[in-house]
Amino acid sequence: MRVRVPAKVNLALAVGATDTDGYHELVTVFQATSLFDDLYVSLTPPGEFHLSFRGEGAAFLPTDGTNLAMRAARAMAKRFDVEDAGIDMTIRKRIPVAGGMAGGSADAAAVLVACNELWGCGASEADLLELARALGADVPFCLMGGTALGAGRGDELMPILTRGTYHWVLALSHSGLSTPAVFREFDRLVPEPAPPGNPEQLLSALAHGDVAAVGAALTNDLQEAALTLQPLLAATLELGRSAGAVGSIVSGSGPTCAFLAESAEAATGIAEELALFSGVRAVRVAHGPVPGVQVVT
Ligand code: C5P
Repeated sequence: MRVRVPAKVNLALAVGATDTDGYHELVTVFQATSLFDDLYVSLTPPGEFHLSFRGEGAAFLPTDGTNLAMRAARAMAKRFDVEDAGIDMTIRKRIPVAGGMAGGSADAAAVLVACNELWGCGASEADLLELARALGADVPFCLMGGTALGAGRGDELMPILTRGTYHWVLALSHSGLSTPAVFREFDRLVPEPAPPGNPEQLLSALAHGDVAAVGAALTNDLQEAALTLQPLLAATLELGRSAGAVGSIVSGSGPTCAFLAESAEAATGIAEELALFSGVRAVRVAHGPVPGVQVVT
């Protein structure tokens, strides 16, 4: 069985103060894009859980019980009391590792859906969302896909109305950024953040399908922290803008930079220019919104 899961970009990310667990209050707009990881699963003898990776960043990922994908499989087995649970999981990665596009969360979301199908757990959407939330703040959105407003830790989701298709160019960095490290840098730079508000301009632009207005309304409170940790990203953002992007932003905690293009053709042109810059490791073109986790075969 093959299960496909999209990468996310944050079109807005407003960060507030931390709660008692050290998590920050967020208001964010997620969009799922056509940069997908594919999970291939098959049944194994009871008690055997295998995980392996191929593709983008595969060599850097743990395959033991610390991996979020493995934790997702074990959580499903436990929650639904699957006595003879066993699974072989191979993940074909395209989503950059430690890239600010929720790659690890995406894989965990895919595993939840795959286990449900493979083991016949009969989990409802609400069951899966509850398990997703316990695994990480971005996992529920990866299940759901589309475009959504996220509040709380980013895991209280409300789908939002959008018109049209958005063409993205994604510039991958030579090295990753740790999400907790970026949040710590944010805390240092902004010791007393204001409560995060709704991104009204962005929501209105999305509802109208006004690409230029969406580009102008992209915001990310974590961007400065990411730029402090990887100063070269400022040059990447500038390059995308001068190549004609209508909006440019660090995705989530970075370091992947996301550029909004006016059309698919414009995206190709921007991608070609970015690919020439030595500060960029690789460039991808994607569109959104796309659905969340989907069983392909
Ligand atoms: O939920 P997840 O494990 O994906 O989050 C990774 C890290 O990102 C957390 O350990 C925390 O440092 C930071 N984070 C945060 N506030 C959020 C979401 C994540 O501080 N709302």
